[in-house]
Amino acid sequence: MRQAKIHYPTKSENHVCIVQITDTHLFGEPTGELLGVNTNDSLNAVVALIAKNSHQTDALLATGDISQDYTPQSYQNFIQSISGLQAPCHFSPGNHDEWQMMQTQLAASAPMASENQIIFDNWQILLLNSTIPKKPSGYIEDSEFAFIERAIHQHPEKHVLIAMHHNPVKVDCKWLDQHWLQNGDEFLQRVSQYSQVKGLLWGHIHQEFDRTFEGQHHPIRMLASPSTCIQFTPRSNHFALDGLQPGYRLLELKADGSIYSTVYRVQGDRFSPENEVSGY
Ligand SMILES: [Fe+2]
Repeated sequence: MRQAKIHYPTKSENHVCIVQITDTHLFGEPTGELLGVNTNDSLNAVVALIAKNSHQTDALLATGDISQDYTPQSYQNFIQSISGLQAPCHFSPGNHDEWQMMQTQLAASAPMASENQIIFDNWQILLLNSTIPKKPSGYIEDSEFAFIERAIHQHPEKHVLIAMHHNPVKVDCKWLDQHWLQNGDEFLQRVSQYSQVKGLLWGHIHQEFDRTFEGQHHPIRMLASPSTCIQFTPRSNHFALDGLQPGYRLLELKADGSIYSTVYRVQGDRFSPENEVSGY
């Protein structure tokens, strides 16, 4: 995992404003569809919604599954789609990404920013690599735990938001929970030892999720977000697609360590998937 740090001033005096975009599943060909949804078009609709909402965005976080077909062009399409948002975009890989290619394609192109430790006045955001090559499930390696520990020791006064692709808790979807973070219990136990860790954020589950983990010493907010393309039905034992539209998550990280967050979705029914599918 790359390890580099960047400092940003915040645009608002009151909070750090973060926009999460996740699971874009783009193709090299702009006509590419995932289960009947043109993923390039659905991302562009989400980006248009972000622009319309005029957030004072300090940084964008792309939490994996940027590509669906592992092509360099799919990453270039991502850059092109988000480049009008006027904010740096940091990223973590998902199980549909090829990490080396992703870094090569994204790292050198503004507004993409490859640092995985983002420092603000009162907060730092740590981006982890939770992937296992060629497997849908995830795992946090010791090197990532060491990165977390080092970052917190560097800035013990700052609150911490950890972002990655995989879910460290099961989300009541049996088929999907097979592919969670395999050492999710260990991950929660270890990060909850740090009083600085206030939030965990991920993608992968293609649905909205907002719960609190009651850690040994303090509660930790756990957030996951809609994909910018297809949505999975919450609390379903079998693969099932939801008719909800694509969206993104806004996070406002407050100076006192609290997190205000809301999900925004595209209006209408333009990006409804095929009904008769059994997997993806
Ligand atoms: Fe995904």
